[in-house]
Parts: sequence; structure tokens; C-alpha cells
Amino acid sequence: MTPPIQLQTDLAGLRLANPVLSASGTFGSGWEGRQFSDLGHVGGLVSKTVTLLPRHGNPPPRIMETPSGMLNSIGLENKGVDYFIAETLPRMRELQAAGRARNGIGPRIVINIGGESIDDFVRLAERFCAAGIDLLEVNLSCPNVQEGKLLFSTDPRLTERAVRAVKQVANVPVFAKLSPNVTDIIAIARGAEQGGADGITAINTLIGMAVDWRKQRPVLGRTIGGLSGPAIKPVALRMVYELARAVPLPILGVGGVRSADDVLEFVCAGASAVQVGTSMFTDPALMFRLVGEIEQRLLAAGTTIGALRGALHRQPGSASNAPAVGGCVR
Ligand code: SIN
Repeated sequence: MTPPIQLQTDLAGLRLANPVLSASGTFGSGWEGRQFSDLGHVGGLVSKTVTLLPRHGNPPPRIMETPSGMLNSIGLENKGVDYFIAETLPRMRELQAAGRARNGIGPRIVINIGGESIDDFVRLAERFCAAGIDLLEVNLSCPNVQEGKLLFSTDPRLTERAVRAVKQVANVPVFAKLSPNVTDIIAIARGAEQGGADGITAINTLIGMAVDWRKQRPVLGRTIGGLSGPAIKPVALRMVYELARAVPLPILGVGGVRSADDVLEFVCAGASAVQVGTSMFTDPALMFRLVGEIEQRLLAAGTTIGALRGALHRQPGSASNAPAVGGCVR
């Protein structure tokens, strides 16, 4: 009999049942999606960004479908950290316990935090680390807030300072979620590395807009928004590939995943694990299904997730065959 395919994945020292996680902001905390599939089997659940205080978010309309994608301008709407720790975190723990009873791990609890200042990030990290979570994802890259201000992840020094401050109080791995809306994402990732990040999440959305020419105005209430979905997959893949080559940190790949092949492409490019986002709005059982489909694909190809991870960087003639390699390739 063929042995079962091993999908367990190491993410900065954290063991995941498999490399499939939800992407922040696309699946609530997981609890809202529990009736669609057995979430106990997925690798991790990533929360919508949590801020210190409740936020109402941006004026509507806040989302719009585009060809092969979606524009959003939510503006980090959430009920704030107190509510999250009291009401939402216990539900994530319930989903984790159900999964743990079956595969010994359950979905890892990843909390995405957002702040307007370094102090905000530190206070959020302290609260969540004291409450007990598995991994912190620091959202340095939301394009829909901070009117007129610089995003943390457009500046390597700000990224470094924010990550360093969070690392000083964190007792779990810290991943920096980076923006693709920069000239050189590697410089930003190096800032995160200097600050002590345990990993990188790449990428957040690409800034875009939609226009209603009949009304002669932008479609989104805040004019611009972030583009996600299959339309951005090639950009995300390229950035994961370049990051894995340049920065020795594990990467959580995200951007346009909707099939097992997509997940394996990201792994091949150097991602340690992959987040599934926008496609779950139309197919909320997608993450769960992908886990089984990845197993089938690997079996059919006669390979393993470990053998595939970072494989592009080991090809003869690959630009990254010899030099510094990402955490995935070591
Ligand atoms: C939002 O809430 O506006 C989206 C979050 C993000 O892109 O980081």
C-alpha cells in the first residue's frame, strides 16, 4: 500500500499539519466558515486584522469584483482587541481543539495585527502573546488606511523598527506581511530580517481603482482599494521567488491561489506554506479541499512537499542556484 503523503510543514519552528492557511480578511476568524467544511484539517487560520480599538472601516462601496479578482477598501473594520480576545479567540481555539483531536495539531492560530504606530503594534503583540496564540502576522501593508501617511512596509527602516519592537515582546514567531506596492520588496524584507522577523508573508494587495464613467466617479467609497484574487498570482509568485532567493526567512505565500496546482507553484517558488484568500468568497470549502488535492497531486507526480519546496532555486542555470537562499531552500 502506498504510504500517506506527508504534508506536515515547519514554519519558523512551528509545526503545521499541512501548508494551507486562510489569508487574513477573507475568512473572518474561521468560525464564520465552519459550516462549509471541516476546518480542523487545514494548516492554519489567519484572523482578519485586529487593531487596538474598534474601527468602523471605510465608507461603502467597499468591495467590487474585477476580471479574475476583487478590489477591497474595507479599512480594517473590526471590533478591537478586547472583543477579539474575549469572544473570537475562544472560537478559534475550539476549531483548533477539534482538529487537534484528529491530527494531533489542528489549525494553527495566526493573529494578524494592525497599528498606526509602533506602540500600537507592541501593545497588540503583548495582549495576544499573553492570551496565547501560535503566530503573529504583523500587517505593515494595508493600503486602505493611514490617509496621507507612509505605510510601514514602504520603508525598510520603519519595517525594521516595527518588527524589532514586536519581537521584543513576542513569545511566538513573528511574520511581517509586506506590500507589493514598492519598487524593491527585497529591501523591505531585509528590513524585516534586520528587525528579527521569523518570516515574511508576501504579498498584500496591489493598489488599484475602478471607475463608473456614467456617474463620473470612482466605484469605491474611498476611491482606491487593494486588488486580490487570481489576477495577482503572477505578481505574487514573482515576489515570493525573488524573496526566497534573497532573504533567509520562511515565506508565507499569498496571492490568487485557487487550486492545488497554485499552492504547489508557490511552494516550488520558495514558499514554506500558502494562504488562500479571495477565492474562498466564491468557494468557502476551498481550503479544506485543497489539502486533499495537494496529496493527490504529489502522489501522482511521485514527489513530496519537502522535495518541491524551493525547487526552482535548485534548477541548473537558475539565477538563484548558488547564492543566498530563502528559509525554504536551506
Ligand atoms: C482592509 O481592511 O482594508 C484590507 C486589509 C489589508 O489589505 O491589509
